Amino acid sequence: MSQDNIQSTLHENRHFPPSAEFVRTASLSSEQLNELYAQAEQDNPGFWATQARKEIDWQTPFTTTLDSSNAPFYRWFPDGKLNVSYNCLDRQLEHNADKTAIIFEGEPGDIEHISYQELHARVCRFSNALKAQGITQGDRVIIYMPMIAEAVVAMQACARIGAIHSVVFGGFSASSLKDRIEDTQAKLVITADGGHRGGKIIELKATTDTALNQGCDSVKTVIVFKRTGHDINMQPERDIWWSDAEKGHNSDCEPVWVDATHPLFLLYTSGSTGKPKGIQHSSGGYLLNAITTMRWVFDIQDSDVFWCTADVGWITGHTYVAYGPLATGATIVIYEGVPTVPNGGRFWDICTRLGVTIFYTAPTAIRALMKMGDDIPNSYDLSKLRLLGTVGEPINPEAWMWYYNVIGQRRCPIVDTWWQTETGAHMIAPVPAVTTTKPGSCTRALPGIDAAVVNQEGEEITHADEGGYLVIRQPWPSMIQTVWGDNQRYKDTYWPYFDGKYYLAGDSARRDEDGFFWIMGRIDDVLNVSGHRLGTMEIESALVAHPRVAEAAVVGQPHDVKGEAVFAYVVLRGDRPTGGIDDELTQELRAWVGEQIGAIAKPDDIRYADNLPKTRSGKIMRRLLRTIAKGEEITQDTSTLENESILPQLQGKA
Ligand code: WT7
Repeated sequence: MSQDNIQSTLHENRHFPPSAEFVRTASLSSEQLNELYAQAEQDNPGFWATQARKEIDWQTPFTTTLDSSNAPFYRWFPDGKLNVSYNCLDRQLEHNADKTAIIFEGEPGDIEHISYQELHARVCRFSNALKAQGITQGDRVIIYMPMIAEAVVAMQACARIGAIHSVVFGGFSASSLKDRIEDTQAKLVITADGGHRGGKIIELKATTDTALNQGCDSVKTVIVFKRTGHDINMQPERDIWWSDAEKGHNSDCEPVWVDATHPLFLLYTSGSTGKPKGIQHSSGGYLLNAITTMRWVFDIQDSDVFWCTADVGWITGHTYVAYGPLATGATIVIYEGVPTVPNGGRFWDICTRLGVTIFYTAPTAIRALMKMGDDIPNSYDLSKLRLLGTVGEPINPEAWMWYYNVIGQRRCPIVDTWWQTETGAHMIAPVPAVTTTKPGSCTRALPGIDAAVVNQEGEEITHADEGGYLVIRQPWPSMIQTVWGDNQRYKDTYWPYFDGKYYLAGDSARRDEDGFFWIMGRIDDVLNVSGHRLGTMEIESALVAHPRVAEAAVVGQPHDVKGEAVFAYVVLRGDRPTGGIDDELTQELRAWVGEQIGAIAKPDDIRYADNLPKTRSGKIMRRLLRTIAKGEEITQDTSTLENESILPQLQGKA
């Protein structure tokens, strides 16, 4: 088990109880929380059944809570029927129709307030447009959009008609887009001409065209939202503008009632093989935990303005932008661009102007903004903020303290939320009015979530400070259903040990004397770059697909903003460049990886060697490569290396 990926940290031993003011106004008290834990302890499925009846409007109530007959393919609420979009939108119409659902702010500064009534109308109209293009229940639809309100409209519209969406992050390349289209066999792609990011235009339609030109025969239609208005190509038989697709359709659309186990979406994520897997989520169970965590962890209340900065291309943007907040009738902020346009105050400016009360972002963003100094946030009015959250990687105590002191002004609890694409919703996280937080720890598992740290034999490790595998020992409603089209891979990846009884998260963790969880890093060859998961194999496959590359090994290198940076060792076909330096080729390979996967996967650094270090059995010595990437002294045994002269090459010294 590797613990090399841990962000090096300062220690912070102080503990932070919630303020009396927060406790006074919070909706979940310590007594109520204890009651939830007690109920879950006594009867776990029964506990979730109670929550599901309370939180979801069922068209057909379920009579079976959990079907475990085909474990680990657990089925929650299997005979219940619902519609997720109905639960997000229609049920707000009676009392909350005029309430703002979405405040959208574009990077150039355009702002739009969309009420629940209006959002409902737009979703219905677009649902009708999708139906008119022949989309029906179970069809897959790819969404490749900028971070604009229409991305949520598109997701909700799919949910409304029972189509299965798969959102592809706008930063992914044509080739990644193509892989996802082909794996899902999607009939339709929803995109935009472009989006505004970092002061530039992201060419979404042009990239879609490139992907579709490489295959993707399943795609019959491309719907294009006009966002930037710049010139793009439209292919008349295939492409249709969003506004034209909507023409003649009204703003009523009866929801399609689906089984609770009907897939709501597929979302691709990296693993330890070269090919990303389509994580399949349900409708009922997924929605339930999206809602319960909005209440327990975010303490969502009617007057809140909730801003989760994640893009809808990631799970965080599904659960805490598109679904959870709307299902709890919240007002959300959607911002299109980057935090540094026009300057490093953009996030705080938005918080001030839009009156954000709950702010949820990633440690990498916090570190980047922290580096710009306190004067920037100090010049804004952040007094409306009442709760802060983080997600994506362990937050180093230094960043935690800055977030707490400078952004939260010692008033706002911080919820450090551990979860994964596969878990669908928060699993281990503070309950803000109750938990005394410790910087760097995601604290305790939520009610009904049976998280534990175990050894190889599956025995719980209870001694403080000893690490082990992070597992979940009982199924939970928002759990992954399977890997799209590959049940075996689902079993092999998530249930490989412990007689297939425990869900293996893929993280190592330890628990302290209070039972708090501390995430230590991944146990597999997965990197966490800026809170995003990247498989080393995926980047290696991209590199070796380049005609000049014979072999490649990719490891993580600690990075003070990104958490981890991508570091590649490359063996070329033909000669190694003199002195190991070829800047031009390095730029070419970086661009190549960007084209194969997306900009986030570009190696920060590439070192060229005559060979890669391997064990006698031919396995690449990754631990050695990680040591070298960190610039640390080599303590591993290198005597088995066939060619010891590669060491200085790998170290960049020859
Ligand atoms: C992996 C999941 C869940 C949305 C964002 C990432 C790491 C996530 C935390 C946290 C420490 C964390 C884990 C996990 N991770 N949140 N609060 N503390 N580590 O989703 O891409 O599915 O990645 O992110 O390693 O396994 P993802």
